Amino acid sequence: MNPIEYIDSRRDANLADLVEFLKIPSISTKSEHKADVERAALWVVQKLRGQFDTVELIPTKGHPLVYAQSHRIPGKPTVLFYGHYDVQPSEPDNLWTTPAFEPAVRGGNLYGRGTADDKGQVHIHLAAFEALKKTEGRLPVNVKVIIEGEEEVGGPSLYEYVRTNKERLKSDVLIVSDTSMLGPGVPSVTYALRGLNYYQIELTGPAQDLHSGVFGGAVPNPLTILSELFAKLHDKNFRVTVPGFYDDVATISKAERKALKSLPWKLSDFKKHVGSPALAGEKGYSIIEQLWCRPTLELNGMWGGYTGEGAKTVIPAKAWAKFSTRLVPNQEPEKIVKQVEKHIRKLLPKTVTCKFEVLSSGKPWVAPYHHPYFEAAHRALEKGFGKKAVFIREGGSIPFVTDMYDAFGIPCILMGFGLPDENAHAPDEHISLENYFGGIKSAAYFYQELARA
Ligand code: BES
Ligand code: MN
Ligand code: MN
Repeated sequence: MNPIEYIDSRRDANLADLVEFLKIPSISTKSEHKADVERAALWVVQKLRGQFDTVELIPTKGHPLVYAQSHRIPGKPTVLFYGHYDVQPSEPDNLWTTPAFEPAVRGGNLYGRGTADDKGQVHIHLAAFEALKKTEGRLPVNVKVIIEGEEEVGGPSLYEYVRTNKERLKSDVLIVSDTSMLGPGVPSVTYALRGLNYYQIELTGPAQDLHSGVFGGAVPNPLTILSELFAKLHDKNFRVTVPGFYDDVATISKAERKALKSLPWKLSDFKKHVGSPALAGEKGYSIIEQLWCRPTLELNGMWGGYTGEGAKTVIPAKAWAKFSTRLVPNQEPEKIVKQVEKHIRKLLPKTVTCKFEVLSSGKPWVAPYHHPYFEAAHRALEKGFGKKAVFIREGGSIPFVTDMYDAFGIPCILMGFGLPDENAHAPDEHISLENYFGGIKSAAYFYQELARA
């Protein structure tokens, strides 16, 4: 049997195995799930034991890392596979058709938290390793594996590990499947990601909540001031008003604009998935450019005052907001933090004080894709799916990719099997079974192609 026949013969077994992995609620942001997160890490360790000579569970100050390494074959490239076994919370649970941690197949998709982001995609590689090892006796290249449990919280443990274990993680190429395809039947290699700075601010006005009848009119309301602040952060062309924000943004070359324009991307599909009555974005750019090549500032949450049942007449003492900036080459996260904080402090009146926090920070990434390893991925996808593959950028962020690119300057191959409507981070997250099985074949082909590249 060759690896591809093996993969075909293991469809049900692989799916059942993935379901076991998905049932573990490894929600990294919630302390009550700490034991589940560890259980998911151990599940991965157990799974890797059959295929790799070295397999380790590495404790950290946060959630554990899983590391594995195959027996060294001289003269072959070393590839590092990265993924994350942690998932986002499942709330709001009532909006799931079937429970988030009870995976179910419907209409050619597997539903459940982590199916697309990222347990399903990690499992694609685990299944490919198994197929290669079982049919050929060994992996075709030198493989190192690092799977983390803090991706969804932008946690520091992996970065810390990279910093102190450079020799161990050193590789010729990084492979990641934590992104999406452009659309169904369009396998894609991603060559750029946006960076992300995440902020929280707390405005304080009066020393305590006040009766809005007794004090309203004379005392400024922090929640109103917070809304005014966010209303001022964009202009009528949907550009961010922070001075200097666009200074370092790389212009999109004519050639790239043309390439992006020729991608098989349908506005009608995008509109249908988004569901808003109408779309709006930065003037002068196509939607694809707005999503992939332009920076943004998004308000992610805002709270304060009374939000319970019925009415309560109150002037809240405090108001909070969580917001973020997506960054593109060549913006520098620290510089953007300074510009954003300065602008916000300047806009706020003297009637409130402001606590400004940065919760996480990560750089954007872009790489040239005319490289033998990128071409190996492109060929592997075309063989795995029997369809034409494309090169795309994406708007999301994967901090580890930039960390590795900066630390080693190696090609980073992002070969994702999600889809734009996969509902990552939302209710009814799913992965297409066609993509899952096509992904396993593509991953197996990729490791074989690398051996020849
Ligand atoms: N897998 C996503 C990133 C992603 C999604 C990249 C879609 C490209 C396309 C990842 O798990 C994620 O959610 N990242 C966060 C950032 C992180 C620091 C919390 C994000 O992009 O918001
Ligand atoms: Mn992910
Ligand atoms: Mn995610």
